Amino acid sequence: MHLSERAFKISEEPFYIALNLPPDVLRLTAGEPDFPSAPFVLEAASRAISHAETHYTPPAGIPPLRQGIARKLKDENNLSYDPSEIIVTPGSSGAVGLALLTMFDPGEEVLLPDPAWFHYATLVELAGGIPKRVALDVKDGFTLHGSKIEEAASEKSRALILNSPSNPMGRVFSRDELEEVAGAAERLSLTVLSDEIYEKIVYPPHSHISVGSLSGMRDRTIVVNGFSKGYALMGWRVGYAAAPIEVSRKLESLLGYSLVCASSVSQYAALEAVQNPKSNDYAKKMLEAWTRRKNIVMRYVYENSRVVSAMPPEGTFYSWINVSGSGLDGKQAARLALDEAKVGVMPGNLFGEAGRNHVRVSFATSDDTVEEGMKKFCNVLRGVSEGSQHKSMEKLALTKHTEQTYP
Ligand SMILES: Cc1ncc(COP(=O)(O)O)c(C=O)c1O
Repeated sequence: MHLSERAFKISEEPFYIALNLPPDVLRLTAGEPDFPSAPFVLEAASRAISHAETHYTPPAGIPPLRQGIARKLKDENNLSYDPSEIIVTPGSSGAVGLALLTMFDPGEEVLLPDPAWFHYATLVELAGGIPKRVALDVKDGFTLHGSKIEEAASEKSRALILNSPSNPMGRVFSRDELEEVAGAAERLSLTVLSDEIYEKIVYPPHSHISVGSLSGMRDRTIVVNGFSKGYALMGWRVGYAAAPIEVSRKLESLLGYSLVCASSVSQYAALEAVQNPKSNDYAKKMLEAWTRRKNIVMRYVYENSRVVSAMPPEGTFYSWINVSGSGLDGKQAARLALDEAKVGVMPGNLFGEAGRNHVRVSFATSDDTVEEGMKKFCNVLRGVSEGSQHKSMEKLALTKHTEQTYP
């Protein structure tokens, strides 16, 4: 069958690594809470099923959910949107994909951090745009400087993707950094896509600030968020975009033409999640687990500082680990961990060139898996640096030459 050039460009690698690992592998790959959805959410969904809420909904979502999200954005994020400016989508991924279609024309550039969630660059390319990376430097703690954005921009730059708390770095951008971003966006006339899906996974003293709430930013920002990470509604697939009415109307039409609407039953589950105060307790309970597991990861990082290094995550359930002390790059380290220790981690190069010497470890899994996985991962890297993994090293040298990919 004929396949488009576009289809050929799509890499299957990240999904093989994250989702197709053999069952005996300790998975530090997946970016989803290991918690089930809260019982009160499940009950609301059951009620929706028994009331046969099984029809298409309006493309932009059921009105009470759009109202609930508008209230949440006001109360928690200091963002003022009319419910008509909220578009409910199948997952926040749906909102990211649709938003990008409204932000630039083919041949124009979209600035995005390096490293960043690998979906962004692929989606920009599929929409005909050119991803332009803004490299964040480990030496200054992956700080986001307005000057770096301005250096990377050209007269073809139309948009900037911002993700805070960020996957994979675990950074939570400070008010000062966001002010710099806002200044650069204004000077360069950029539209900002602000992906805030990890907003509820933030470790004190850090706090989440929506760039859209800064002075002058509402009119140039599309805020994207959803229910997967902070409410444990991963498989229900509900996210949303909030944007000025002229943009949200276009998003609504794009949604109607492409995905039609988010699942009706899922929207009732999300409605319960957003309006029930018990959601805060549930998020707190998950945060306690993420904090415990983050501490396990960091203990192994500190104890193995000859081969690995990492900044403590400020948010998210990811640790962004530099493995260059072992003599390997991130891809080799991930391959070796899989082959020799049956531990799955994400090679950092998938997130951009700046991730070459890194792996991303997800600690959104049980304490035991995190403990055991980190122990084995560090052992195997120590083995390499002490020269006791000759066979594996030979294999890795081959991997490097042939550029063999997963699985
Ligand atoms: C940065 C970021 N944005 C968005 C998503 C998508 O989440 P969902 O589509 O489940 O809302 C993810 C999932 O891993 C993510 O890491």
